[in-house]
Amino acid sequence: MKTSNYDFTKYRLMAPGPVQMSKAVQKALSEPMIHHRTPAFVKILNTALEGLKYVFETSNPVMILPTTGTGAMEAALVNTLSPNDHILCVTGGKFGERFEKIAAAYNIKTSSIDVKWGETVDPKVIDSFLASHPNTKAVTVQACETSTGVLHPIEDIAQVVKKYPNTLLIVDGITAVGATKLPMDKWDIDILLSGSQKAFQIPTGLAFISLSKKAWAFYEHSTCPKFYLNLKKEMQANQQGQTHFSSSVSLIRALNVVLQDIQSKTLPAWQQRVMNLSIATQKATLTLGLKLFSTFPSPTLTAIEVPDGVDGAALRKHLEDKYNITIMGGQDHLKGKIIRIGHMGDISDEDALSTMHFLALALNESGYAIKESTIEKAIQEMKALL
Ligand SMILES: Cc1ncc(COP(=O)(O)O)c(C=O)c1O
Repeated sequence: MKTSNYDFTKYRLMAPGPVQMSKAVQKALSEPMIHHRTPAFVKILNTALEGLKYVFETSNPVMILPTTGTGAMEAALVNTLSPNDHILCVTGGKFGERFEKIAAAYNIKTSSIDVKWGETVDPKVIDSFLASHPNTKAVTVQACETSTGVLHPIEDIAQVVKKYPNTLLIVDGITAVGATKLPMDKWDIDILLSGSQKAFQIPTGLAFISLSKKAWAFYEHSTCPKFYLNLKKEMQANQQGQTHFSSSVSLIRALNVVLQDIQSKTLPAWQQRVMNLSIATQKATLTLGLKLFSTFPSPTLTAIEVPDGVDGAALRKHLEDKYNITIMGGQDHLKGKIIRIGHMGDISDEDALSTMHFLALALNESGYAIKESTIEKAIQEMKALL
């Protein structure tokens, strides 16, 4: 089998986060430090906060937390709820379960809708739960459950939760905001949160969160302990051109590079690129004779079933060692059974094509035979879709 026309000396980070960063972002990250209590930084911060509102599609303030995405998940709960409150968590993946774990740490009581891994939640099930449990304070759900590659129907879920004035909809958009349609205000999402290492294409270390007016009203009655993650204090600091604690100057500067790019290309165009990468990857997957794992795949990543007889962990390692490409595997009971390819980074057509080409070669070398003509067909089909 001919190796390929593609370059495997270049390292490619094709995970569903952290993701490949552009040269412009890398340059911004290397700029000299400035102090965060300066007029120059006030300008940088205000620019970032405005840009985030554009991407979140909200008129509510969006706050920047110096935490990973999980920090924003925790902030969502502790700023709106109280110990012994009851919430409903949509699980069916690693990150759905995380909300339950955070809630348990604050003695918030949870019920769950345990969706089969790889499937989406049915909004009607949420509706009937809320109808029979009127004291439910919040519903938590991932827009995209990254561990399974599923996109949950957030617009429909929001329509349901909207009927219950004492219930908030908390959406983890860590692998969704920016990359796929999730307009906070239009869809009536009460809390939307995200993380820097996904569609925002900068390093891990910042989280973003926005609260609707309904969610801010919950803040006033919430008695969960909060100090570092006190969102009202954060918002008040933002109104003075500051962050509550020391600001992550370099990360926020890098964030502005990407926000500027999204605004100049427009959000729909930015999301369309992710969608094209996703559709092209899905098409190639099927042409190679492989199966998609998710029943409703998120455009932000493609989860692929590892064929019988192939060890998924060894396949990933082979792809990394020989072809310089990092993709992700499955978690928990899906370890070794699926692989996950991300579409949110600064990914060129060549990166996307090389990834599928080298994946096919790595599969061949792992005992799953694919004809050279089939690989060529998959790559040509992908090219046509990018
Ligand atoms: C959907 C989702 N939620 C939460 C997290 C946790 O984010 P972090 O690792 O930045 O804390 C991730 C991370 O990949 C994620 O994909």
